[in-house]
Amino acid sequence: MPWWFFRRHSHNSSHAADPAQPSSGRQLGEVALPRLHGSRRYLQEQPYLLPKDLGEVNRLDFQHYALRAALRGNYLAPIEQPRRILDVGCGTGQWAFELAQQFPQAQVVGLDLEQVKATTPPPNYRFVQGDTLKGLPFENNSFDFVHQRLLFLAIPLNAWPGVVQELARVTAPGGWVELVETGTALQDWLPCGPATQEFWRLAAQLAALRGIDTDAVPRSLGRYLEEAGLVNIHYQPFNIPLGEWGGRIGSLMALDLREACKAIGAPIAAHFGRSEQDLLQLIERASQEWNEFRTKWPFVVAYGQKPLTH
Ligand SMILES: C[S@@+](CC[C@H](N)C(=O)[O-])C[C@H]1O[C@@H](n2cnc3c(N)ncnc32)[C@H](O)[C@@H]1O
Repeated sequence: MPWWFFRRHSHNSSHAADPAQPSSGRQLGEVALPRLHGSRRYLQEQPYLLPKDLGEVNRLDFQHYALRAALRGNYLAPIEQPRRILDVGCGTGQWAFELAQQFPQAQVVGLDLEQVKATTPPPNYRFVQGDTLKGLPFENNSFDFVHQRLLFLAIPLNAWPGVVQELARVTAPGGWVELVETGTALQDWLPCGPATQEFWRLAAQLAALRGIDTDAVPRSLGRYLEEAGLVNIHYQPFNIPLGEWGGRIGSLMALDLREACKAIGAPIAAHFGRSEQDLLQLIERASQEWNEFRTKWPFVVAYGQKPLTH
């Protein structure tokens, strides 16, 4: 069994004063020592393929603003006045900070393997260190809105059903779980050029070595929510243009994707015995193709509600 195989922890369902506090007596995610590829820092002993460093903090913030503009908001689920909000794999925390500002009466929790941002968060925001592959350190029914965005390079395929069950477990009856993902399935990227196709093939092969299936996840989100017992499921693919042909959003997203490709380019080069220069040239060719072929970046938003009788 690989070391990242999903292990579901049993949770004590007794009610603490604040159920959104981490359950007592559990070890939170043990963060592995970093590994360096060139100037980038990657986590060891985690399947996660992207770096954890300042460059990635900046890229994730930039990506957050571009995605918010493309989606015209931070979420699609029909939430009203949530009192407790959780963001799993919160990255820089920017999404959660904005939810904390939008709902000042709510307690907002961001969970990630590491806290990466030094800026002062809103007073109703709290960071909790944790590893979603080991289960969430919260009591049942703790949150009214649970959000998880872009963990497709972090969660092995066989762990997805259990991860989504955990999101549903910590959601209160009547509350919502929202997932936002993308993937590398070529049919979702068409039209795209040969360099883009080659890059995604290499990325998918590297991910597969860690049990991650970057093709399968986006189309399975609705099923994961359903299998976790959620109802009123809404599944919405959306595509964002890549490149100047797509106006301001297209240019922002192309810049973001080029940096994201570079971020996984180093481990791809190391694994496939190619030079980093070779990978950089491939990424450069791919990004030129996005304009030429009018390629769009495929995303999926899927959300579902926990039934009141759950
Ligand atoms: C691509 S980033 C997305 C960050 C944020 N959700 C956003 O959309 O800006 C993925 C995040 O998931 C976190 N992550 C990866 N594996 C994780 C795990 N097993 N448990 C919790 N967080 C994890 C990473 O540390 C990283 O911050």
